[in-house]
Amino acid sequence: MKQDMIVILDLGSTQNTVLARQIRDLGVYSEIHPHDITVDELNALDNVKGIILNGGENRIVDGAAVEVRQELYDCGYPIISIDYPGSCCEKQYLELLSEEELRSFIFDECQAEANWNMKNFIDDQVEMIKKQVGDKKVLLALSGGVDSSVVAAMLIKAIGQQLVCVHVNHGLMRKNESESVIEVFKNQLHANLIYVDATERFLGKLENVSDPEQKRKIIGGEFIRVFEEEARKLEGIDFLGQGTIYPDIIESGTKTAKMVKSHHNVGGLPEDLQFELVEPLKQLFKDEVRACGIELGLPASMVYRQPFPGPGLGVRCLGAITRDRLEAVRESDAILREEFEKAGLNKKVWQYFTVVPDFKSVGMKNHARCFEYMVIIRAINTVDAMTASIEKIDWDVLEKITNRILAEVDHVNRVCYDMSPKPPATIEFE
Ligand code: XMP
Repeated sequence: MKQDMIVILDLGSTQNTVLARQIRDLGVYSEIHPHDITVDELNALDNVKGIILNGGENRIVDGAAVEVRQELYDCGYPIISIDYPGSCCEKQYLELLSEEELRSFIFDECQAEANWNMKNFIDDQVEMIKKQVGDKKVLLALSGGVDSSVVAAMLIKAIGQQLVCVHVNHGLMRKNESESVIEVFKNQLHANLIYVDATERFLGKLENVSDPEQKRKIIGGEFIRVFEEEARKLEGIDFLGQGTIYPDIIESGTKTAKMVKSHHNVGGLPEDLQFELVEPLKQLFKDEVRACGIELGLPASMVYRQPFPGPGLGVRCLGAITRDRLEAVRESDAILREEFEKAGLNKKVWQYFTVVPDFKSVGMKNHARCFEYMVIIRAINTVDAMTASIEKIDWDVLEKITNRILAEVDHVNRVCYDMSPKPPATIEFE
């Protein structure tokens, strides 16, 4: 990394990532490191210009005081301490401090240059990937989600045909999703892409399985098996590309922050398939990943797409999955997305989708009694997906979507809108 860096040392603050984002917004790269980093470790990081001790409340974690090593104070880097008074919420305190004080430390005291931008970042990563991979090959599971798509675009730029992408269509993708992965990566970026249509295999395994956790386990486990089978067919692969991003690393727990979730990887691959990891996005926050994707030339529709669960439409076709209901989920989801885009709601609403429960209700079509499924629309806003509120959709838009679903989607005679916040409901139904 050629760009100047401000190191934040974590002494138990809850605001480390907010601070790191603030510094990056000033154009200077920033990383969070554990409080007990040694001077040698610090020197091994490239281009450190200064250190911020981010204290947290009284520098106490789990009842014990945390301190940095004394040697850090004497190693020559400019140091500033942010210690939050116990009486003040850390978030508010950080908002009060800030920009002038932070600017003066970074630019006057540390003499850091504002050279953190996506173009430089990509140039750096491309160089680092080339150095790491040499003339070897990298395998990547390309789901079409934001992170794996941006990793793919970055790796294509760095090593071209030495990247082998595997796209597994588990049959639970949204309408035209696999097609757009093929269009963008194979046809436009000329990626070395292996497309596996495993629809029948997944739907076969899922037949008559109604328990949500079991469904999730089958989809996750089968995905690993398909990917593994493809990996075994290939020869001379030494590396595995992965869309790890900075929050995944931070949330894996630092020495002073509790673990939120384990660091995810394509875990579950058998031990004899040993790959070295290539993780070119591991320093980026989510919004930076999107900016990186745009800079790499990916379409905005791919980079700004809403979150989509790994088990796909499988957890939106409630209970035991049947093909007719799966198709109803897929078609109604496509209508919802189309109409949200027309109404400009795709930029306003965090996540929106449809689900189809596994029961029928009585209705009337063509002057005759019918007994068919219902579609439930869900549209929520959230910051971190831990809690969520429903979006108050304009009545006319809802009516138009309802009418289109009733007219265009087979086996459906009723549309409902889910009014439940999270908690007590979760965002997904299963
Ligand atoms: P819940 O339903 O727990 O969802 O309120 C919170 C957010 O997580 C998404 N979600 C998943 N994402 N793999 C994922 O990558 C999954 O298995 C998964 N399950 C839920 C969900 O869409 C929502 O944004």
